[in-house]
Amino acid sequence: MRKKIIAGNWKMNKTPKEALELVDLLKSKVDTDKSDVVFCVPFVDLIPVAEALKGTNIAVGAQNMHFQNSGAYTGEVSADMLLDIGVKYVIIGHSERRQYFNETDETVNKKVLKAIEKGLIPIVCVGESLEQREKNVTVDFVRIQVKSAFKDVTSEQAKGVVLAYEPIWAIGTGITATSEQAEEVCAAIRKTVAEIYDQSVADEIRIQYGGSVNGSNAGELFGMADIDGGLVGGASLKEDFESIVNY
Ligand code: 13P
Repeated sequence: MRKKIIAGNWKMNKTPKEALELVDLLKSKVDTDKSDVVFCVPFVDLIPVAEALKGTNIAVGAQNMHFQNSGAYTGEVSADMLLDIGVKYVIIGHSERRQYFNETDETVNKKVLKAIEKGLIPIVCVGESLEQREKNVTVDFVRIQVKSAFKDVTSEQAKGVVLAYEPIWAIGTGITATSEQAEEVCAAIRKTVAEIYDQSVADEIRIQYGGSVNGSNAGELFGMADIDGGLVGGASLKEDFESIVNY
């Protein structure tokens, strides 16, 4: 039985002061027995948020990292830096990073390999554009993203990775994929994992859905056979996140 995993992706929102206010509001209210809960916060919020979450079962995640260990990469943050401050998860290959910051399938794979090597849990994002969905190439496209992300990842390592299916047309638009649409692609992703590795890896790996998840649609989405929780943007910035985690 896979444990659900529900993560908030705060994106570029909340100063450290605002972050602490939200953490204070949520930390005693979210149920961490039923689901793993992660707050993926901006880099500058990581240290105070990790401190504020000490003694809870809520984990802290970053939204990106570099694939090199260290060196002359101005503006970047390494896996070791994240680990040193208590970060457990890292989002890799979010569509916004692919779209605005030249993240490619190749850099996503390098980051996945580095995160795993260092002991961070990658939350790897995949998902199609509206144009791709309309052209009926969604599954083909997502399969390529999944296969590239797992290049050179062993089956033992793959089990611990979290995948997030986030259709780009559903992100921040208020248009949620229907539970059937989301399930169809999440099932195809699981099948792809079974093809790359075997059924036992596919049975163990957790696949989230992301894209306009809110308190009203979370229950139905997370109830689907191949959807193991959510990656939540806008609704994770409010007290409402409680109703998603406690769906
Ligand atoms: P929204 O929940 O705001 O649509 O964002 C989804 C997302 O991109 C999470 O990573």
